Amino acid sequence: MATVEITELRKKYDDFLALDGVSLSAGSGELVTLLGPSGCGKSTTLRCLAGFLDPDGGDIRVEGESILRTPSNRRDFGVVFQNYALFPHMTVAENIGYGLKLRRCSKSEIATRVYDVMKLVRLDGLRDRLPREISGGQQQRVALARRADGDGRHRPRGADFRGRAGRPIGAAGRLGQPCGDA
Ligand SMILES: Nc1ncnc2c1ncn2[C@@H]1O[C@H](COP(=O)(O)OP(=O)(O)OP(=O)(O)O)[C@@H](O)[C@H]1O
Ligand SMILES: [Mg+2]
Repeated sequence: MATVEITELRKKYDDFLALDGVSLSAGSGELVTLLGPSGCGKSTTLRCLAGFLDPDGGDIRVEGESILRTPSNRRDFGVVFQNYALFPHMTVAENIGYGLKLRRCSKSEIATRVYDVMKLVRLDGLRDRLPREISGGQQQRVALARRADGDGRHRPRGADFRGRAGRPIGAAGRLGQPCGDA
């Protein structure tokens, strides 16, 4: 059975029909890419999946259960937005470790986990740089690594996320562990 299953999803913005019967499924460990022209509804689909938008029709099931009535914060999804929304005043390491800090992990645990994930996404050496001091691709990897701060098992990404998928997702899994479990 697919882990995530979207069936006949419909979404209207006022009178404009943005999604007209979108269906797709993704199994555990599968990497799925939504590919299509600008404005075709990729982000709208992901927003419905994450619970930021309520669809007007269709269903979204995770492991067989509809999640349409589950609020966004209980859906267990993480999102990397198309703009990376990095904190401009925080260094690369601070951006990545911020979620762990909120979850009250110890300083040494944050340092270890951030170090590990930075190595895996090949950001080591850039830990003290500010977002404006790194390239677009490096910012993208910071956003991906940072998103791993939550416990989200499923990580929809902005549609313009390009490549570099396998290793960062592996890295994300490490940061996603609860504090004290590293
Ligand atoms: N809040 C909104 N109100 C009205 N129309 C919207 C709104 N958000 C998106 N749309 C429209 O819905 C359609 C789908 O938008 P969506 O953001 O899902 O596209 P996309 O496939 O992600 O495009 P892109 O590749 O440019 O990011 C577009 O035509 C867009 O103009
Ligand atoms: Mg989009």
